[in-house]
Amino acid sequence: MMRLEEVLKPGDQDWKLAQQLDPGRLPRHIAIIMDGNGRWARSRSLPRVAGHQAGMESVRAVVETCARLDIGALTLYAFSVENWKRPRAEVEMLWHLLSVYLKRELATIVDQNIQLSAMGRIEELPARVRREVESAVRATARNSGMRLNVALNYGGRTELADAVNAIIEEARANGSLASLKVDEDRIAARLYTAGLPDPDLLIRTSGEMRISNFLLWQIAYSELYVTDTLWPDFRRADLLEALLDYQKRDRRFGGLSPATPPAGAEEPAVPVEALGSAR
Ligand code: FPP
Repeated sequence: MMRLEEVLKPGDQDWKLAQQLDPGRLPRHIAIIMDGNGRWARSRSLPRVAGHQAGMESVRAVVETCARLDIGALTLYAFSVENWKRPRAEVEMLWHLLSVYLKRELATIVDQNIQLSAMGRIEELPARVRREVESAVRATARNSGMRLNVALNYGGRTELADAVNAIIEEARANGSLASLKVDEDRIAARLYTAGLPDPDLLIRTSGEMRISNFLLWQIAYSELYVTDTLWPDFRRADLLEALLDYQKRDRRFGGLSPATPPAGAEEPAVPVEALGSAR
């Protein structure tokens, strides 16, 4: 929180928003579906790739703000396993933009003590992009600050299939396949996000009410925040608004809110037969 204030001007809008934040109740992990680049470009009669290019500035702003807020992890959905269906020129442009981002931002990322990671079927990326990603990941491996996790050639169902296959392979290798039993912890330990807490907050830009095959397992209890703002227009103030909204939520994880009186304390007993068959 303190580090964010270093770059805010007292009295301006972002400063006012930041003042309202409770630094003790920030999400440990934020995940973002960055959507709306194409619509942003179309509304300006520009090619779709111009939207992706403009979206890079939003990536920069969000990464810096999260790092300054001491958020533990930020996961960005940059390229899905389904995105290969897009025109080849657009796919190539996305890889190019990733390279540009890594080249331009690596020094800042290192400076901000950010630890970079990539998740997805990275082995299927074009070889040059894979090398660049791996080298940037290595360059930040000793950092101890925020984890910036970029989803590249990622699919939630693919991730689950990969986890199940890894568990089977491991059991085969150590001879325990016949008695293999899988539980939730074992699956979670084989996901690409192993070691990271599940996202507390999932943000999606540009208004679509969809999950789009993102972090299917991990978002079981995430708070969802969907904004109509298109990704290239998403800036620090939009992130702060999302965080303020998150801090208003009553997270119950399937239980009851701590403010709820214990069973029997004040609720009148309802005879079971009075409930009828309605559930
Ligand atoms: C969705 O907009 C956005 C993407 C598929 C790509 C997101 C990539 C970037 C912002 C740039 C590179 C990222 C990093 C981390 C350096 P869309 O094209 O689906 O928009 P539309 O729904 O309006 O068509």
